[in-house]
Amino acid sequence: MEYQLCPSILSADFNRLGEQIKILEKEGVEWLHIDVMDGDFVPSISFGMPVIRSIRKESKMFFDVHLMVSAPERYIQDFADCGADSITVHAEACEDLERAIEQIHDAGVKAGVSIKPATPVNDISHLLEDVDMVLVMTVQPGFGGQKYIEECTEKIQELRELIEKEELDVDIQVDGGINDSTIETVIKAGANLLVAGSYVFNGDLAGNVKKINRKMKEIIGTLE
Ligand code: DX5
Ligand code: ZN
Repeated sequence: MEYQLCPSILSADFNRLGEQIKILEKEGVEWLHIDVMDGDFVPSISFGMPVIRSIRKESKMFFDVHLMVSAPERYIQDFADCGADSITVHAEACEDLERAIEQIHDAGVKAGVSIKPATPVNDISHLLEDVDMVLVMTVQPGFGGQKYIEECTEKIQELRELIEKEELDVDIQVDGGINDSTIETVIKAGANLLVAGSYVFNGDLAGNVKKINRKMKEIIGTLE
């Protein structure tokens, strides 16, 4: 299984965004988590296509776009065109989730489906064969800096068991409240793509990446 730290630029200093992305690249980070919020599916508004288009010009990282927007089907092609490598839509936001996943693949990018903390795994388990990743939200989507919701651990385990039972190649991403103390719980539960916003960007960016990467390696080492 491939493990990746996916720093979320929601917590970046937008005045220095390009510079901060360079620091992540220098630290060997391969994935960049990009949170798009519309003020409807979630209360807050973040940023959209122009920002992604700008950073795409300067970075070869894997752009993992998390759409926290209502009826995201409207924007799938636009996000693929402006540089997404993967697009994740919320199960709760789509009228026809299967169709949305198909649209993402038709646009030539990887497809993810996300569930909020209160949404059961059961709601998306029939789609596991169709997606590249499932994003288990471990806080209420909408804001960075919240506390990890412990009840979500079971959902990660349940999902990993299902994926293994069906012998599928599906990544499990976790998002919300991930730091050097919660990372152990989520990895042991079966997550392999670890989003971290405030933990990574608050303070010494390079130092934080080094610290969480070290911890990640240590935990993965105990699994083998
Ligand atoms: C929250 C976003 C997250 C956010 C995570 O709705 O989807 O990606 O940036 O932030 P932290 O790591 O601070 O919980
Ligand atoms: Zn996110």
